[in-house]
Amino acid sequence: MKDILLKDFEIVFNTTEKAQLFFAPGRVNLIGEHTDYNGGYVFPCALTFGTYAAARRIDEPIIRVYSKNFESLGIVEFRLEKLEYEAEHKWANYPKGVIHNFIRKGFIINNGIEVLYDGNIPNGAGLSSSASIEMVTAVLLRNLFDLNIDMVGMARLCQEAENNFIGVNCGIMDQFAIGMGKKDHAVLLDTNTLKYEYVKIALNNASIVIANSNKRRGLADSKYNERRSQCERALKDLQKKLNIRSLGEMNEIQFESNKSLIESEINIKRATHAVYENLRTIKAVEALKVNDFATFGRLMNESHISLRDDYEVTGIELDTLVELAWKQKGVFGSRMTGAGFGGCTVSIVINDDIEEFIKNVGDEYEKRIGYTASFYVAQIGNGAGKL
Ligand code: GLA
Repeated sequence: MKDILLKDFEIVFNTTEKAQLFFAPGRVNLIGEHTDYNGGYVFPCALTFGTYAAARRIDEPIIRVYSKNFESLGIVEFRLEKLEYEAEHKWANYPKGVIHNFIRKGFIINNGIEVLYDGNIPNGAGLSSSASIEMVTAVLLRNLFDLNIDMVGMARLCQEAENNFIGVNCGIMDQFAIGMGKKDHAVLLDTNTLKYEYVKIALNNASIVIANSNKRRGLADSKYNERRSQCERALKDLQKKLNIRSLGEMNEIQFESNKSLIESEINIKRATHAVYENLRTIKAVEALKVNDFATFGRLMNESHISLRDDYEVTGIELDTLVELAWKQKGVFGSRMTGAGFGGCTVSIVINDDIEEFIKNVGDEYEKRIGYTASFYVAQIGNGAGKL
C-alpha cells in the first residue's frame, strides 16, 4: 500500500522527490447521535479504513491535490493566496477549507504542497469520509510546516472549516473521533467540555457489523442544518425560564416539566430526541462497562426509534436495514449511525451468527429496496497520524 502510494505520487506529480505518508481513519458512532451540537455525549470509534495521503512541500505558493477516488477530476490546483470555495473543485474544497482555516488562525503556511489522497471509506456512507480528508490534511500540514497544534486543536479547526468553508454546521464528533481514536476502544466524549474517556470495546463473542444502505446521503446537508437550528430554537424557548446553556444539560424530569415552553410541536420532538439520546448514551456506556450487552443493545434500538420518530432522519432504507436486523438471531441491537438520511447502520452481532445475519438482512433488503446493501465487520483502529 505504502509503496503504491509513493509510486502514484511520483507519477501524478511527475517528480522524483519523495513524499511523506499520512493516514486518518473513518469513524462509526455506537450511540449518541445528533447530540454533539447539543452539548451532549457521543460514543464513536475510529475504524481501520480511512484516507491515506502522500504529501510534500514545494517551492511555489501553489497547492496541488489529487484523489485516486475522483481520478476524472485530475489534479486540482489553486494558489495559496486564493483559498476560496469553488463548486467545481468538489472534494478538493475540504483540504482547501482546512488550509484556509489554518492560515486564518495565524499558522504559517508559506509554501505550496502537492498531495495525493487515496481513501477506502465508502464515499457518502456516513462514515465520515469528509472529516477523514480534513483530518489527514491537518496532520500533514502540521508535519510539513512544523506547526504547533495538538490533535484536539486540529479537530476543532477542521470542524470550523466544515462549518464556515463548506457550510455544514456539524458538531465536533467526527473530527474528534478521527483524531483521538484508539485501537479497540470507543471514545466517550462530553461535547460540552471536550472531556473524554476511552472505553474498551470487548464484546466477548460478538462484533460490530456495519451495513451500508448504499443510499447516498442526498439533501443531507440542508436537512442537517435544519435539525440543528430546530434544536437551537427549542433551547431558546427553554432558556426563557431555565438557566441552561445546552439541551445536553437537561435531565428527564427537568425536560418533561418544561417542554411545554417550546413553541413548536416539531421542535419539541427534536429536543425530546436530543435530551433522551444523551441520557441513553450515558446509560449505554455504563452497561457496556459491566459487559451488559443486552442493555447496550436495547438502548441502541431505542436510539434508532427516536431518530426515526422524533428526529426524523432515517428513511426507508435505514429503517428497513435496522428492522430486519432486529429480527435476526444473535443481534444485541441495531441502529442507524451518523447524520442519517441514508448511509450506514451499526449492529452488535454474535460472531457465529454474522454470516446468517448478512445473508438474511442482505437478501431481504435487496428484495424490498431494489438494490444491495454492503456489510463490514468493523475493526476499531487508531486515530490520525504520520505513517
Ligand atoms: C454528522 C456530523 C456530526 C454529528 C452526526 C450526528 O456525522 O458531522 O457532527 O452531528 O452527524 O450524530
